[in-house]
Amino acid sequence: MHPSQDPVAELAKAVSLADLESLARERIERTAWDYYRSGAWDERTLARNESSWRELTVHFRGFVDVSARSTVGEFFGARVPSPLFVAPTAMQRLAHADGECATARASSAAGIPMCLSSLSTTPLEEVRAATTAPLWMQIYISADRDATRALIARAEAAGFDGLAVTADTPMWGTRERDIRNGFRVPDGLRLPNLERPGGPTGHSGVGMGGALSWTIDPSASWRDFEAIAAATRLPVVAKGLCRPDDCRRALDAGAAGVWISNHGGRQLDGAPSTAEVLPSCADAVRGSGRPKATVIVDGGVRRGVDVLRAIALGADTIALGRPILWGLGAGGEAGVTRALAIVTAEFDLALALSGVRNLAELRELGKDLVRR
Ligand code: FNR
Ligand code: LAC
Repeated sequence: MHPSQDPVAELAKAVSLADLESLARERIERTAWDYYRSGAWDERTLARNESSWRELTVHFRGFVDVSARSTVGEFFGARVPSPLFVAPTAMQRLAHADGECATARASSAAGIPMCLSSLSTTPLEEVRAATTAPLWMQIYISADRDATRALIARAEAAGFDGLAVTADTPMWGTRERDIRNGFRVPDGLRLPNLERPGGPTGHSGVGMGGALSWTIDPSASWRDFEAIAAATRLPVVAKGLCRPDDCRRALDAGAAGVWISNHGGRQLDGAPSTAEVLPSCADAVRGSGRPKATVIVDGGVRRGVDVLRAIALGADTIALGRPILWGLGAGGEAGVTRALAIVTAEFDLALALSGVRNLAELRELGKDLVRR
């Protein structure tokens, strides 16, 4: 084998997330790649997510002794080595045969929390067994409310640590490549967390629209969210918010935190970038009188310096969606490990170069350090 085709050697040479993306593009089957990379409609929100972080300038401080620094953060009371979170992304076996378990093992080794998609291609119990790090379950409120309750009960029984209930998906956004490609869940892959006892699995439609439609429900409302939060002992966050009033609403409905997200630009194309709305949403949470409420943000984070920007603008935890899929596609567990290591090392360096020693200082400097 030519050295440049040795997957392990290639992975070791990946310097940036963009390098992992290039490797993954070569290794993932094309219609699956298109499913992963797509945004909705004209993909403006997807592009805006990425560009908005870069437009924020970091007004670094000179001659600060940064020899003793720390990237340590907190995740719902647990100490974590860096303030990262693996976002839920569906069907990870399309990226690598080891799928969600590879992601979970990498997140476990790094001590980084992970959120599992309800459209996972691995049973949630197997994923729980693959990690000792915090593991959350992503929930869609299904047209079949009993199925949603059963899924939550299963996650509780398996020892999951929290629930992220997705708010931005009353219907599936249109990812036009999937329609053109006739993308469907491939034969041989299952969505074992969504199979209903006795019922057809019904995963055969084209795109997300087909028979997967019962997994979501256009009538889902804050009342459903409130019922979920009231019925579980796990912390619950609302995932996919962009408005301060919705953030307050989520906390009033019993949420332990809010997840500022537009689903990676896959739902409403035309939504603002998450970097644009983060400051006002974080202010709403901080002003809510609930000091422990957590602000998670995702969308377009591609460099460790974006993590610094997000924390300065009020986030506690920064989630990564596609970059994890790139790592997974590039090299399974080792690739996800590489992705997490790259972002953490970049974040550490960004702190040093900004003259900031830790997350507390970063929060205190806040909008003085990171400006539009
Ligand atoms: C997602 N996302 C997502 N969100 C969710 O709540 N449930 C899900 O099943 C999925 N599935 C999914 C699949 C793929 C292929 C992508 C790219 C995204 C959204 C995800 O959790 C996260 O919000 C975004 O991916 C964050 O943006 P970046 O990091 O991909 O730019
Ligand atoms: C997606 C769904 C699964 O974004 O959340 O494809």
